Amino acid sequence: MLGVPSGLPLAADAETLKKGEAAFRHCTGCHTIERDGDHLLGPNLYGVFGREIASAKGYSYSDQLSAMAGAWDQNRLNRYIARPKLAVPGNNMPFPGITSPHLRADLIAWLKSNPAKMTVPPRQDDAANGARLAAACAACHSFGKGEKNQIGPNLWGVIGRPVAGLATYDYSERLMRRSGTWTRASLEVFLTEKKEFDQGSHMAFRQLARTDDRRGIIAWLTTLSDNSEKMGQ
Ligand code: HEC
Ligand code: HEC
Repeated sequence: MLGVPSGLPLAADAETLKKGEAAFRHCTGCHTIERDGDHLLGPNLYGVFGREIASAKGYSYSDQLSAMAGAWDQNRLNRYIARPKLAVPGNNMPFPGITSPHLRADLIAWLKSNPAKMTVPPRQDDAANGARLAAACAACHSFGKGEKNQIGPNLWGVIGRPVAGLATYDYSERLMRRSGTWTRASLEVFLTEKKEFDQGSHMAFRQLARTDDRRGIIAWLTTLSDNSEKMGQ
């Protein structure tokens, strides 16, 4: 039997690439992959394998990611995608990570194949639009699982959570008096009632006058969950 020298990458087979592309759906809420694609909450990832770290033009990276020297290779991508917060402490990617090493390997093989475009459409166009709009929410909210509250409460898993339901956040009386759970419908109401809501800090909501934009933000918020596969669409 002819052994394959260890350490030499094998060309990825079609099955691997297919699985890798499917795994990228975890990323499409925040990243485009096609050439010259828009930056969403995260930078466009066209050609990211082998690309200099934090080098996408027109995207404003965290200082922590910008300070990293070198290019994205197998090992770095593997560590970053597994546990973004651990791999690059203080970076801005609000993503808990992909725990399965197999899934990561498939995803990285697919990224390495330098896909010019997705053959499978992203799971949620709405969510991609929402991710773009959510950049405004990031001024006051963190989105990642277990992340600290900022000016506003952390929004991981907000859909399905009781209103003013985070024990770690000091809510206003007004929000505490509001009962119920955050659902798509109650968020739709919340996102349109800027005057009634006396926080004075929710200026971002003015950008959400369009129904499409609210639908996008809400679709994107549903991706901030361990159950996003079930909750999506
Ligand atoms: C909820 C949004 C979000 C999700 C989901 C997400 N990312 Fe990111 N990603 C970001 C942000 C924001 C940054 C910029 C981080 C910084 O500047 O510190 C980033 C940066 C990156 C970078 C660095 C790019 C560069 O130009 O140096 C890579 C690589 C990356 N993400 C890969 C992925 C992959 C692969 C997935 C899916 C498994 C994924 N991301 C899921 C938001 C996200
Ligand atoms: C300028 C700061 C700021 C911006 C920008 C902002 N928020 Fe908030 N958000 C807050 C504060 C502060 C609270 C807590 C309000 C309270 O206690 O009355 C909050 C609360 C929330 C809640 C209720 C969470 C809970 O646990 O009950 C949701 C949902 C929310 N914001 C969504 C958003 C979305 C979506 C955006 C972007 C479109 C956004 N926010 C932009 C400051 C902000």
